[in-house]
Amino acid sequence: MRILAIESSCDETSVAILEKAESNHIKVLSSVVASSSNLHAETGGIIPENAAREQLQYMIPVLLQAVYESNGKKMPDITSAFKDSSQTLEDSFDTIAVTYGPGLIGSLLVGVESAKTLAFVFNKPIMPVNHLLAHLYANFLSSSFPTNPFPFIGLIVSGGHTDLLYFTDHGKYKWIGGTRDDAAGEALDKIGRLLELPYPAGPEIEKRAKLAKHKTLKFSRPLLHSEDFDFSFSGLKTEAARYIQKLGKLSSDDVNEISYAVQEAVTETLVRKSLKAAEKFKCKTILLGGGVSANEHLRETFKLEIRNSKLDIDFFFPEKKYTTDNAAMIGAYAALNFEPIAWGNIKASPELHLI
Ligand code: KG4
Ligand code: ZN
Repeated sequence: MRILAIESSCDETSVAILEKAESNHIKVLSSVVASSSNLHAETGGIIPENAAREQLQYMIPVLLQAVYESNGKKMPDITSAFKDSSQTLEDSFDTIAVTYGPGLIGSLLVGVESAKTLAFVFNKPIMPVNHLLAHLYANFLSSSFPTNPFPFIGLIVSGGHTDLLYFTDHGKYKWIGGTRDDAAGEALDKIGRLLELPYPAGPEIEKRAKLAKHKTLKFSRPLLHSEDFDFSFSGLKTEAARYIQKLGKLSSDDVNEISYAVQEAVTETLVRKSLKAAEKFKCKTILLGGGVSANEHLRETFKLEIRNSKLDIDFFFPEKKYTTDNAAMIGAYAALNFEPIAWGNIKASPELHLI
């Protein structure tokens, strides 16, 4: 089965074509991602209307490029590609998967309505996919990933969400905790803005943290020892803001030390709570997903703490290119949870929840 997957929940426009074998093995035939993050870097954050306009501009070229690449062909100029695309498109996929939420309404609508149009025109099945669950399913795209990782604890750390899930089978999970205020990525992006780092700030904070020399600055870790599996990151932002205000003008060294302290605070909380969840739910597997899971320090700290804890846990994270928003992960979720519905019943749902 060939799946054409579309992702447009925020500032990435992405289309991927995947082949799922009977054995459940998934092969990514093409994965194209266009990002408007440079535009948002100029404004220091995402302006939803701008993101939606960019989605509109990118959608057709990205779709055509993914189709051409999946057939092992180089895309000609956009006009010729568009004129020639009808038959190629129809023959390139058997079914469609599309992100229907959560996300920005304007951005989501572009992907959802494009996908519905393709389903209608070519009379192919279509399946709506929850973007957050798909972040965890990015792990299934790695060739070394086990076919049966259940039960597992899944930690989703993205720009808008931080959630812990207990998964018992494909699509079957219990939400066990999440952030009470800002998401981990959101806190990094907001603090990065105060540090005058480019948007999105997560990768920049990671780079600057590596340059820290003193490593003595420490911010608090709210809810670290609470009994539940909740997180809170808005206090970290306030604490960092106060510290930055107190310093006045920041030197490059200050930015490095603050980045280090912020990264440490976020990492320790995420790792501790995930290990506690694995212990409580007697899970031998932890999966990481979402943009923040690109962070090397977070990955390495997980490995280290798992080794130190002697909990005998298998720990997985997606390939770097599948950590931030991409359509391949949407296709992976659809491949393993295939439940198409009538295209007319699919609606963009910006507030889609996990509970
Ligand atoms: O999953 P994602 O691409 O988009 C959402 O669904 O929100 O995540 C984006 C988030 C941003 O907050 C970004 O700063 C963060 O992921 N991020 C990182 C890194 N790369 C991206 N955070 C820390 N370290 C990174 N290397
Ligand atoms: Zn995402």
